[in-house]
Amino acid sequence: MKNTGIDADRRRFLELTSITAVTIATSAVLPAWAATSASTRIGVIGSGKVGGAIGRSWIRSGHEVLFSSRNIDHDKALAAELGAKAHAGTAAEAAAFGEVILIAVPYGALPELGKSLGNALKGKVVIDACNPFPQRDGEIATRARAQGAGRVSAELLPGARIVRAFNAIGAARMGSAYETPGKIGMPIAGDDAQAIELAARLIRDVGYEPVLVGNQEMGKYLLPGTPLAGEHTPAEVREIAAKLKTP
Ligand SMILES: NC(=O)c1ccc[n+]([C@@H]2O[C@H](COP(=O)([O-])OP(=O)(O)OC[C@H]3O[C@@H](n4cnc5c(N)ncnc54)[C@H](OP(=O)(O)O)[C@@H]3O)[C@@H](O)[C@H]2O)c1
Repeated sequence: MKNTGIDADRRRFLELTSITAVTIATSAVLPAWAATSASTRIGVIGSGKVGGAIGRSWIRSGHEVLFSSRNIDHDKALAAELGAKAHAGTAAEAAAFGEVILIAVPYGALPELGKSLGNALKGKVVIDACNPFPQRDGEIATRARAQGAGRVSAELLPGARIVRAFNAIGAARMGSAYETPGKIGMPIAGDDAQAIELAARLIRDVGYEPVLVGNQEMGKYLLPGTPLAGEHTPAEVREIAAKLKTP
């Protein structure tokens, strides 16, 4: 039977509050600047403004990161600058290396990337920062906007356990969010509870407070130009998200 609006709203309220409860429990026992999760191997595919900034912050909080793009010289230079926990390689090597993968490439690159990676992302937690812009990314972006970017990313990256995050916020301050931990809310969306939990810990480690706005259908709101876009406190993100229509 189809969910009524009230049931859907109640479900979303529970989703929004459950991540908050984990946050409160964690922040009660750790100093604000401390990394909140054990060292994790992270593959970054797309080491530009988003991937470079977030990967750099993950290294800072004790994780091991392999950066990749189509420019290995750039990635080697970045890894050399960041020290022993940073590595460089191909996208396939990043997919193999990471327990978690951050994908931060132009959306139009996903179809080819998905084909070339084959099953390498199967079962992996993939944080999808990619935003579809038809003018930049072509037809696939039009489809992602119509069907929801999370759904289409899942189709393009077979078997990946996708959590959308880092989409609705500018890259310029991503690398310094750790200076004000927990002050800015990071709207996230996904279907896989374990993947969401792991992604949430890593998001917290770079200084944002994750706020689950719902499943992949709600991921359509994680884009520039929606009410969630821009920097908001965690409470504001929850308030805005609660008013959004469940598709
Ligand atoms: N900039 C923002 O404020 C912002 C905020 C939130 C989300 N986003 C989204 O995040 C994604 C990345 O944005 P960005 O600003 O970081 O872009 P960017 O600075 O242009 O970085 C894109 C990265 O992806 C790599 N790349 C491109 N095609 C690739 C492929 N086929 N295989 C492997 N790597 C590839 C690029 O390197 P090579 O070209 O050398 O391969 C580069 O390292 C986009 O979808 C964007 O819409 C951006």
